[in-house]
Amino acid sequence: MTKSNHDLQGRRDAAFARGLGNQLPVYVERARNAELWDVEGRRYIDFAGGIAVLNTGHLHPKVQAAVASQLERFSHTCLMITPYESAVELAEKLNKLAPGPSPKKAIFVTTGAEAVENSIKIARAHTGRSGVIAFGGGFHGRTFMAMALTGKVAPYKAGFGPFPAEVFHAPFPIAYHGVSVQQSLEALEHLFKYDIEPARVAAIIVEPVMGEGGFYIAPPEFLQALRLLCDQHGIVLVIDEIQTGFARTGRMFAIEHAGIEADLMTMAKSLAGGFPLAAVVGKANIMDAPGPGGLGGTYAGSPIACAAALAVLEVIESERLCERAGQIGRTMVGTLREAAKSLPAIGEVRALGAMVAMELVKNGDPHQPDAELTKALTKRAAEKGLVLLSCGLYGNVIRFLVPLTASDEIVREGLGIVVEALRELTTVPAQAAVNA
Ligand SMILES: Cc1ncc(COP(=O)(O)O)c(C=O)c1O
Repeated sequence: MTKSNHDLQGRRDAAFARGLGNQLPVYVERARNAELWDVEGRRYIDFAGGIAVLNTGHLHPKVQAAVASQLERFSHTCLMITPYESAVELAEKLNKLAPGPSPKKAIFVTTGAEAVENSIKIARAHTGRSGVIAFGGGFHGRTFMAMALTGKVAPYKAGFGPFPAEVFHAPFPIAYHGVSVQQSLEALEHLFKYDIEPARVAAIIVEPVMGEGGFYIAPPEFLQALRLLCDQHGIVLVIDEIQTGFARTGRMFAIEHAGIEADLMTMAKSLAGGFPLAAVVGKANIMDAPGPGGLGGTYAGSPIACAAALAVLEVIESERLCERAGQIGRTMVGTLREAAKSLPAIGEVRALGAMVAMELVKNGDPHQPDAELTKALTKRAAEKGLVLLSCGLYGNVIRFLVPLTASDEIVREGLGIVVEALRELTTVPAQAAVNA
């Protein structure tokens, strides 16, 4: 019996709690590189990349081969019980790749949120302090500390409190919304005046490009100022590279654009090309603060995921994906900015490498976010065979996370659908579809 998306969606809605969100009723049968096919045989271009997990594409042959070979040997022993060389080799490689001159050490965990949780545990153990500062609009995950650090109430925090204490938020610098680097830094000084003295702050955590929050790029001078502030007060600077890492922004890690060294970095998503693996990598003296047994997890550093991650790192290098990210980004920005000239709904197009975003607004006004149009665009694009992902504090940003292994033809075809769908939705007779 052939399955339909409609039937599966009905079963999904009955089987899953509604808290588990779902963007598209498209049930995947198979996927390869930047394309996927649903159970009805329809082809889609994938501009979502499993939310930034697939920088090396769906089932990259080298990742697939590495995983298949590992499956011939063993699938799990637990890294904390009887370890294996692939995990050690991966840790050595990540320690080398993490920017900056200080000697590094690593830990592996399974999800991004876990990496964030552990970064705060390590920072607290190292400093003996409790306070943590994060940024408004930031996203760090769905576990309790990660939720507390996340700067967006609905849907991530509403109804789930109380949260861990001693977490504070400062505004992220977003030029498009009138928040300058200076204002953000002044807000941090105000926090130190109003809420917590710097000597009690264990960590400042920041995304170098805000992911879920709307792909706002932290200006290098802001990250450099945070580095100075942390040095001045003995605060651990945690850079959350979970969405930005592994060539997405045109460098292995986005922080390289600012030329600073993090104290700790959180990594996940594209690290293992679709297999669950996350890491904290940081300065060895800080990483070694928690005692033996204080860090870890049953599946942390799964041998399957480690095999995949070693292949991912090799692919990033051999296929020069950092360079490729720059090319893809330039193509996307060029096309979208050209389209913006005749599509006033496009308020801003911004990018760091291939981390590209398009913000949709009403009347050309940054303060009038158009979440309805954004939603309608993801729907219309899917009807035309393109998977798009939205984000943003106000739900009005399309984020582009096409695999960096995608061909120029696929990138252009996908962009064509974006522009065509947006044109259809914003011409007068089709306006009704936005409200539908
Ligand atoms: C910057 C950032 N940090 C943390 C997380 C949480 O990762 P996970 O969903 O694997 O727990 C995400 C997920 O989107 C993220 O983008």
